[in-house]
Amino acid sequence: MMGQSAVFESEEFRELTAIARTMKEPPEEDGSLRQAWYINRARTVLSEREKRLGRKLTFCVVTFGCQMNERDSEKLRGVLKLAGYEESESEDADFVLYNTCTVRENANIRVYGRLGSLTAYRKKNPDMRIALCGCMMQEKEVVEKIRTSYRYVNLVFGTHNLHRFAELLAACLMSDEQIIDIAQQGSSIVENLPAERTYPFKSGVNIMYGCNNFCSYCIVPYVRGREKSREAKEILREIEQLADDGVVEVMLLGQNVNSYGKGLETPVSFAQLLSEIEKIDKIQRIRFMTSHPKDLSDDLISVMAQSSKICRHLHLPVQSGSSRLLKIMNRHYTKESYIALTKKLKEAMPDLSLTTDIIVGFPGETEEDFLETLDVVRQVQYDSAFTFIYSRRTGTPAAAMEDQISEDVIRDRFDRLLKEVQQIGRARSSRFEGQILPVLAESRNRQDPNLMTGRTSHNLVVHFPSKEDLSGSIVNVRLSESCGFYYMGERV
Ligand code: SAH
Ligand code: SF4
Ligand code: F3S
Repeated sequence: MMGQSAVFESEEFRELTAIARTMKEPPEEDGSLRQAWYINRARTVLSEREKRLGRKLTFCVVTFGCQMNERDSEKLRGVLKLAGYEESESEDADFVLYNTCTVRENANIRVYGRLGSLTAYRKKNPDMRIALCGCMMQEKEVVEKIRTSYRYVNLVFGTHNLHRFAELLAACLMSDEQIIDIAQQGSSIVENLPAERTYPFKSGVNIMYGCNNFCSYCIVPYVRGREKSREAKEILREIEQLADDGVVEVMLLGQNVNSYGKGLETPVSFAQLLSEIEKIDKIQRIRFMTSHPKDLSDDLISVMAQSSKICRHLHLPVQSGSSRLLKIMNRHYTKESYIALTKKLKEAMPDLSLTTDIIVGFPGETEEDFLETLDVVRQVQYDSAFTFIYSRRTGTPAAAMEDQISEDVIRDRFDRLLKEVQQIGRARSSRFEGQILPVLAESRNRQDPNLMTGRTSHNLVVHFPSKEDLSGSIVNVRLSESCGFYYMGERV
């Protein structure tokens, strides 16, 4: 993947970098000019260090968690590259950054485990810098633990000051102290920063940050802050620039994209935003996640159904099939209204792929509640589903609820659910067998370089033989053989 990636720096940012070069002191204002100034600063420090060591300096960014974090990491990589580092796949690098997730306990545990294993590299390389950022760092207890037990971590920052990374990087390169910079709330949205895309032809695009929904099990609103939409014109401008830079597929990102636009000076709905994006010529595919069922509008369904660019895939997390539990989860829909919504969607788009997230073992979940979930899975016929064991997150209302479910019971339910989900998923994905569908070729297959791997609009993975590297092109492929959750095909 790495060979393909490219730093995307807008014309404006290049100009800012040039202006910043003429400035002795950084500008006071917290914006992209200030960050450009610090990128120049870091570059000077690093080039001196390179001369001293007689070699290039490397970085490694490791991302945990969701697509928001993936996108944030692209921005972090962009800064590191412009500062003069080269990317390395190994964590035996000069700058290692973990972008963390805390949605479930096991994401947390993995970070501590990997952090411990970095000490060996650090011993060999005293100039090495270790940094932590992301959702976990917005938790007080975590930062306290890093402060006291992980003194060798050089830099800690959170989700609200990610746009100041260049500045923090420069500070961290010039100091041996542990730097901790966590804000409790986001400032205004800083636009126009560089990013390094993993794929040249597709990109995530943030349309909103944070979450206001406070589902009772979920820590995201606490670590990502309140919902804030980006201005539609900024989003469109970014997508136009991406399109000019070779992007054909965009993935619009937000915790609840269906509530996009609330709170903007001129309110714009998500459906309107999609219609505008659709008009951008070179963009051929539009995806988005995540959709909250409570806010999915009829307008959105009709925009989707009429569109030739919006992909035939909707991720619609249900979490539970029990209306009783959905209420306690604070989800604002019932089993019946959810099923009715999926029916409406499939009537408008018969070939739509539906995927979901399900939590097993929410406090107080009874066998009857669980059977309701299984019933929804059978009725809706998901193309695939992410199934999660409930994880108790400190500070959320559900963590304080009585009647936490025992591990044995959860295991048993989880296994039954997974079996059902997989059986249905396999049957669903085989529904395209023999059809010819457009596939966006994404990369050479890792195991067999004679194959290209790509995706259909429904987000189904297809492998097909090709001598030519077709990455970034949309080609017609016959889906000859369904192999469970992917297809083997041939180009026609
Ligand atoms: N904003 C998205 C979800 C983001 S978190 C939405 O509302 O759909 C991704 C998924 O993690 C959630 O859909 C949920 O299924 C799961 N999740 C969140 N908190 C969890 C917890 N405490 N334990 C287990 N799974 C959880
Ligand atoms: Fe968490 Fe609910 Fe917000 Fe999704 S909508 S991020 S599950 S609080
Ligand atoms: Fe994890 Fe943060 Fe995403 S907690 S799921 S990385 S928003």
